[in-house]
Formats: sequence, structure tokens, C-alpha cells
Amino acid sequence: MEKSERRLNVSFRLKRDELCGELDDSCCGREVTLNGWVAKRRDHGGLIFVDLRDESGVVQVVFDPRASKESHAVAETVRPEYVLGVRGEVRHRPDGTENPEMATGMVEVLAGDVEVINPSITPPFEIKPGINVEEKIRLKYRYLDLRREDIHQVLKVRHRIVKATRDYLDSEGFTDIETPQLTKSTPEGARDYLVPSRVQPGRFFALPQSPQLFKQTLMISGFERYYQIARCFRDEDLRADRQPEFTQVDIEMAFVDEEDVMDVVDGLMAVVFGAVGRSLEVPIGRMPYSRAMELYGTDRPDLRYGLNMATLDGVFEGTGFKVFAGTLNSGGSIRGMRVEGGGGMTRSELDGWTGRARELGAAGLVWFVLEEGELRSPIVKFLTEDEKDGLTSALRLRPGDAAFLVAGDRGMCDEVLYQLRGEVAQKLGLAEEGEFKLTWIVDFPLLEHDPEGGRYRSLHHPFTSPTEESLALLDEEPLAAKARAYDIVMNGVEIGGGSVRIHRRDVQERMFELLGITPEEYRSRFGFLLEALQYGAPPHGGIAMGLDRLVMLLTGHDTIRDTIAFPKTQSASCLLTGAPDEVDPAQIRELGLKQAFE
Ligand code: AMO
Repeated sequence: MEKSERRLNVSFRLKRDELCGELDDSCCGREVTLNGWVAKRRDHGGLIFVDLRDESGVVQVVFDPRASKESHAVAETVRPEYVLGVRGEVRHRPDGTENPEMATGMVEVLAGDVEVINPSITPPFEIKPGINVEEKIRLKYRYLDLRREDIHQVLKVRHRIVKATRDYLDSEGFTDIETPQLTKSTPEGARDYLVPSRVQPGRFFALPQSPQLFKQTLMISGFERYYQIARCFRDEDLRADRQPEFTQVDIEMAFVDEEDVMDVVDGLMAVVFGAVGRSLEVPIGRMPYSRAMELYGTDRPDLRYGLNMATLDGVFEGTGFKVFAGTLNSGGSIRGMRVEGGGGMTRSELDGWTGRARELGAAGLVWFVLEEGELRSPIVKFLTEDEKDGLTSALRLRPGDAAFLVAGDRGMCDEVLYQLRGEVAQKLGLAEEGEFKLTWIVDFPLLEHDPEGGRYRSLHHPFTSPTEESLALLDEEPLAAKARAYDIVMNGVEIGGGSVRIHRRDVQERMFELLGITPEEYRSRFGFLLEALQYGAPPHGGIAMGLDRLVMLLTGHDTIRDTIAFPKTQSASCLLTGAPDEVDPAQIRELGLKQAFE
């Protein structure tokens, strides 16, 4: 190797004065200097064409030995993803070679000078949109993945959404305040990520599952409108819309009721839609929790399509069909779902859904098809005319429709039909791409039974206020109590949730007791909040929006991994850095953790 080639260097000679994607006919005749990556190189005998890419776009550079022999010789050596500096003249492409598909397709740059600023080894996949590469590889080489136009754009959209959010909340009088990352456990229903303290061996910080308690404390501090684009940490089972580390647009307001918080979020959503070039009709509609559960078997219904459900217990009361009679006698339910146009399915397709229902945990599924006033089903012979009419009218079946019925425990029926509803809609292509349907879910119950602990647990979190009317129910009939809570749902995904909070110590203590938390336990875990509530805590409420989920939906992606620069895999690891990783035993000793590992 020549000595000069081995010389270390940290600077480059050809520094750009233009951006690749901004060149057009108005630049013809001008000498420009560009920097960028080689997206593609084509050798056409005499001429070499290089598509040069920077963040603004791609432009074609031509290396013609007649214009510069030296540059042409360098171009012969360059490969994809080399970083180049190129100086040359912009010219209109020769007639017939224009490329209207490309933003800069009318022009090209005739290279007069070129510098290889940094070569690249061969990338593990092509840097272009829509590649079919295993996610594992994409995440290991995330820096290359992010170079690709489609994924790069998602982060640009995310930035626009964050900026619009900040501008809007700022204009509405909100103050952005940071809250600690090294803190104490907040109960949001997941496990904590713990951080050992070195200076206090044997003691741990928890990373926040949300800034819930700090934002409530800020209300007591007199910050009447707080927000934060807050990173939250939850050690829970991961899904397409769950990451262990994710971002909330976290909001809290003093002296408000539910309406005020929902109004602010309606305005925010309109602005966010505007930021991605769409419009949204506000106010966003509202649906009581009980109606969502009855019609869709879930509190996060996808309203882009029908497939409505109904409870058929009344229809089959006293039925001679043994399976349904047995279910009703043992306190179960019969739930049905109308499948609009499902009558067109073949017998084996219909039976296929029965198999799917079993996989999902149902004992079976009974299907019906309505044909010109006649119901068809393997079990139709066991039903009376009244039952057939009742079923048809309860589910509002029309000729050409199918109906799916599941019998058993109400929760199981809802879960199975909820899953089937999504899968049927996908199979029949019922959800239009690019369509957005939002709803608020309101009138939530305050509590639910915790089947494991044999006690109550909050549907949201323990700081959610019961409604005024529900206070009287807390002693006798706690499960009938309603919460001052609200969720916002978009295309079947919960994109936010919040509530009006408890602002009085006595009510908060009563709530902890109801949840089976002993005074010793709540004083040790939440003593600081209880104490603060005594110093004139204003009535307050708020919400947290899941930013990653919002970006996922607005950019048409199926997973929030595509909206996060450096996401974790399903097993909560970062393939780029190899985290989580083992650490030096000395570090463990220093943290006073040694014993735990022996
Ligand atoms: P919640 O737990 O409902 O409420 O969270 C609010 C929103 O955050 C998003 N979200 C997630 N996104 C990605 N990965 C996760 N693991 C994850 N978990 C939640 C969802 C959800 O709607 N402190 C309360 C808010 C409040 O009461 O103000 C809270 O955190 O979109």
C-alpha cells in the first residue's frame, strides 16, 4: 500500500454547496458540489452513472472520461454506500433519458471532480424502500435500515407530530416539565425495571412506568397545565403495539373535569392529523364502555367496519338445543356476531372459523347463514321458529349474511369473538387502508375482580376518581362504581387513556383499602402523595397518549417497532448494541449485588 493511502485523515476536500434532491432545471449550467452515499452505480461501457443520495433525495451523476479521466477512474472503484464528494455541472438530461418517476429526473450532474470520502463494505441488504429482509437483520444493522427512505420518513413524520404537539400544547398554555427517570415504582399494571443504587447498597430505583405521581404532584405545586413527551418503562409481555420503553404525550390539568381534558385532546388530535396532511372531524364521538363491550366485546373497538355483536341469552332462554341450554343453566352467555355478506363463505371456510374459535379457547362455534328468509346451520333443526326469528332480529341479519355464535363464560365469548371480528374483517378486506375511525370510551367501571388475587383491582389505576354518585356504592357494591376515566381509541388501538384524579387524602386512602392495600403498604409506597394531597391539592385530571402507537397508525405500520429509531425485539433486547448484557463482576460487587448472584 502506498504511504499516502495509509495516511490517517479526518477531513474532506469537496464540501457540498447544494443538496442532491433539490436540483432541477433551474440549476442547469451551474457548477455544484454534492455530498452523499452511492445508492446505485451502473457502468455503461464508456459512461458510469452513479445515483447519489443524501437526506434530501437522489440525483444522477455521470462520469464521462471525456470530461474527467481521473474522476471516471475513481468512479470505476466506487460501490454502493460509499460516501462521495462530487463537483460538476448540472445539465438537462439528454432527450429521451429523462425520468419523470424521479424528483430530480430531468437533470444530471456531469462530474468534473470526485473524492471518495469514506468507502463502505458491502451492506447486508440493499438500501431501498420495501425490501423483504428479516427484521432480525434489519435491527442488527438498524443504522443502515434507517438509511432507507420508507423507514427514514416514519421518523420524520414522528418529528412533525411531536413538533405539532409541542406547538399546540404551548399555545394552550401548557408547561413542559421533566420528571425523574430514577424514581419509585408507579402502579400501571406492569413489572418495574429496577436500577440498583451504588451509594445505598441493597436499595433500588424503579424506572417510571409513567410520570403519573409526579404530574399529580406538579398540580399540587400550582403548575395548572403540565405536559411532557415522557419516556416510560414497563417490563411486560411484548406485542406489536407494546415496547418495554415507549413514549407518552403526558398531560395533566388543574381545576378541570373530564370534558376539559377531552376537549384539549380533541384539539390536539386535529392538529396532529393536520401535521400529517389529513383532517379530522372533532369533537371525537363518545361511546359508553358498556355499549362497546356489548357491540364489540372489547373496550377498544375498531369502528371502520360493522360485524356487531349481540347477547342472545334471552333468545335461547328455555331452548331445546342442549349446548345453549347447558351454558345458560351454568350461568354462561350466548354471544353472536353478525358477519355482513358472510353468507358467501363456503362450508369449509365456515367450519374453518369454528376451528379458529377452538384455538382461541372456545368449546366451539355455531355458524348460521341467512338465505332468502331461511336460516341454514348444522344445528338449525334443533331450534324453534321463535328462536330463529329472535336470532335473526337480535343480530339484524339480512339475506346473504352469516352469524357466528359462541357459548360459555361471558369474558371468554367476548375475547373469542373480538379476535374473530378482527380476523374476519381482515380476511374480507372490510377495513379501508388510510381510513381512521376514532372514539372516546367513557363511563368505565372503577374496579374489576382480580381473578388471581381474589380482590379488586383498578381498571385504570388507583388514582382515578370514582364518580360522585359512585361514592355511595364503594362499601356495598364496589363493582357497580363508575370511574371518571376515558380512553381514546383509533382503529381498534388504544392510543390514550386518562381520568380525573382523586384529590383528597381520605378518598385516596379509601381507594387503597378497597384495593386490599394495607395502610403500612400504601404509606410506604405512596406516603409522599398522600401527604402532598393534604396541602390544598386542586381537583385535577389528565391523560397520556401513546405516541408510538399514534405514529404507527398514521404512517400505516403494523408495529410500533417501525416508529422507534432503536426498538427492542419481542424478547426485549436491542440487537444493535446487544443489550441487555452481562456486566463486569466488579460492577456487581460495587453495587452490593454480589450476594443475589451467588
Ligand atoms: P396507560 O397505561 O393507559 O395510562 O398508558 C397511556 C397510553 O400509553 C400507551 N402505552 C404503550 N405504548 C407502547 N408500549 C407500551 N408498553 C405501552 N403501554 C401503554 C397506550 C396507552 O393508552 N398514567 C396513565 C395515564 C393517565 O392516567 O394520565 C397511563 O400511563 O397508548
